[in-house]
Amino acid sequence: MLDVENWKLPHLVTSLPGPKARQVVDLDSQFVSPSYTRDYPLVVSRGRGAVVEDVDGNHFLDFAAGIAVVATGHCHPEVVAAIQKQAAELIHMSGTDFYYPNMAQLAQKLAAIAPGKSPKRVYFGNSGAEAIEAAIKLARYHTKRDKLIAFHGAFHGRTIGALSLTASRAIQRKGFGNLLAGVAHTPFPDTYRGTYGVRPECASQDCLSYLVNELFRRRVDPEEVAAIFVEPIQGEGGYLPAPAEFLQGLQRICREHGILLVADEIQCGMGRTGKWWASEHAGIEPDIVCVAKGIASGMPLGAMIACCEIMDWKPGAHASTFGGNPVCIAASLATIRLLEERYMANAARMGEFIMRRTADWPSRHKIVGEVRGKGLMIGIEFVRDQRTKERAPDLRNKIVQMAFLRGLLVLGSGDTTLRLCPALIIDEEQADFALRTLDGIITEVEREV
Ligand SMILES: Cc1ncc(COP(=O)(O)O)c(C=O)c1O
Repeated sequence: MLDVENWKLPHLVTSLPGPKARQVVDLDSQFVSPSYTRDYPLVVSRGRGAVVEDVDGNHFLDFAAGIAVVATGHCHPEVVAAIQKQAAELIHMSGTDFYYPNMAQLAQKLAAIAPGKSPKRVYFGNSGAEAIEAAIKLARYHTKRDKLIAFHGAFHGRTIGALSLTASRAIQRKGFGNLLAGVAHTPFPDTYRGTYGVRPECASQDCLSYLVNELFRRRVDPEEVAAIFVEPIQGEGGYLPAPAEFLQGLQRICREHGILLVADEIQCGMGRTGKWWASEHAGIEPDIVCVAKGIASGMPLGAMIACCEIMDWKPGAHASTFGGNPVCIAASLATIRLLEERYMANAARMGEFIMRRTADWPSRHKIVGEVRGKGLMIGIEFVRDQRTKERAPDLRNKIVQMAFLRGLLVLGSGDTTLRLCPALIIDEEQADFALRTLDGIITEVEREV
């Protein structure tokens, strides 16, 4: 049995990477796809709560949570028990050809918690990208239109359809030839920095106006647009929340032209922001919601939730052999129960704690441009100069590395932002440790600037 009480804060027993970690990294570098982006040589063997242990016995405080996935922490006992019980009864049957009870139960639950009041139905896949692919297909099927709109900085996944909507980094698209035709990108309201021609102080208004007066007028007739895909909080694009008035305006424009509004809640949904959905903070009801990551505490599951009147495709139109696997669904039902009972409220509380504690960072640290976010989806944007807002990816990367060497796991997001996306179970002691560690590292790094 593990002594879980001691799995609270980092404890390093070797230099990093340790000898066993080095061996695994060597093996991996010979046989595993070189397309992965590992920022530091962390080789994990076990996880409990917000702590992971590496193969050399070092403990790390995990503020990355498997890229915002393990919502209830690593190996929550109730999630593990649900997985074990289901695995002993039925591992696979294929919900596309047969029925099993927990698929219908999870669909009912997701339909109930989805934003808005209209009745919903759920399609199950295995990942975020599959949820997005399903949304692309359903939007085209239902509207009988083929054009799609997404935002600068968006990340919707890496399969060809999802990649066509993604506009986060050129490297993600480079070398893959022509993507889906009929996709246009438009500016996202970055209220810190603005983007080309968008003023930070009127970012919502400028971005909506660009969409209507530029994109619709000159390049894409709105009557041909099937859907607009938006992340209510951009994830890989730098942890950028879309202002409520922007999302409300977008919904208005969509309704005016019969365009479906698709909210990609894959990173920002499932309670991470302190509500089930980031869309709820703006009071919008998207026509389609895409979910994955936190939905099953680490088991591979994606879902596309749509209003019943929109999910009108016929049997055979879309399916997946593994999508909605019974074991993943059991993990998801346990996850949702835990989020509902305890951890969604904790995410709101801990998010406020972190925002309060970091409120003075831009005035105390000359390389911190802004700290922003909702719940436990918080971004710290680094700049070389607060006045010019010059991006500082090298400083951000250095801080991520230094944090690892002190036992704190964090990840970058966008060009120059560090993201905090821990499990929704963290407590004040863990948040305090993470913030004190980062505060100290930032102080050291900025001395050299
Ligand atoms: C907002 C968003 N959409 C889609 C995806 C793709 O999800 P997956 O990697 O599970 O395919 C991600 C993954 O980071 C994401 O953050």
